[in-house]
Amino acid sequence: MTPKVQAFFDDQTFTVSYVVHEPEGRACAIVDSVLDFDHASGRTGTKAADVIVDYIQSNDLKVEWILESHVHADHLSAAPYLQKKLGGKIGIGDQIVTVQDTFGKVFNEGTEFQRDGSQFDALFKQGDSFHIGQMRGDVLHTPGHTPACLTYVIGDAAFVGDTLFMPDFGTARCDFPGGSSSTLYESIQKILALPDETRVYVGHDYKAPGRDQYAWETTVGEQKALNIHIGQGRSIEEFVEMRDARDATLAMPRLILPSLQVNMRAGQMPPADEQGDVMLKLPINKL
Ligand SMILES: [Fe+2]
Repeated sequence: MTPKVQAFFDDQTFTVSYVVHEPEGRACAIVDSVLDFDHASGRTGTKAADVIVDYIQSNDLKVEWILESHVHADHLSAAPYLQKKLGGKIGIGDQIVTVQDTFGKVFNEGTEFQRDGSQFDALFKQGDSFHIGQMRGDVLHTPGHTPACLTYVIGDAAFVGDTLFMPDFGTARCDFPGGSSSTLYESIQKILALPDETRVYVGHDYKAPGRDQYAWETTVGEQKALNIHIGQGRSIEEFVEMRDARDATLAMPRLILPSLQVNMRAGQMPPADEQGDVMLKLPINKL
């Protein structure tokens, strides 16, 4: 089965969202959506999400799944907005409970913040499968960037989230709480064990030195041959040394604090206060 894949690039956060649908038929899934967020004003917006809504409505598609590859630290998820407009079930990795526990503590969330993943409609683990109409999706647990990262393999297309990026850009950072470069190395081996012709769709693109265009689609074969961090059979020792040294130089993503508070709740804002206002926290010197 060769699913149709439509990409949507958000140039504010360099995120690629996808709609993956049956070659014949109406069933589809949305992968890694974006809710616009202006940090300076605290305002949300749905411009990016509405492009996806338009695509789905104009192609008369039926949303069965709204999938998250992980709890993103650089953009807010539009999953609840899309679910309200289009239906579908929101899915994420079952290790979300680890992420909720970690960041429940960072943000001093009280007992009303459930740390059991119950905000999501489905929690997937390694080896699970699901259906989008007639298409089958298989779940690979690919932690390292975060403990809950998943790769969704749908037909001949793998949605790898933040594990591998384009071959000329390399791999995802592993320095967030719960991240591990040696774990990411092992996870990437699972992706590279897929057939060489498997299409690989990455979760972000930042261009690479010498490249003018954004890009997001490659193959397992190209990753094995060309990935600058892990291609050509790079050893785990070499990878870990390179990754950890590089991560030590990276700043935190601009939207990490709002993103985590919202995304660990499946894209919902925290509960409103007595006045009905919604507030996000800014923990000082904690991350
Ligand atoms: Fe990420």
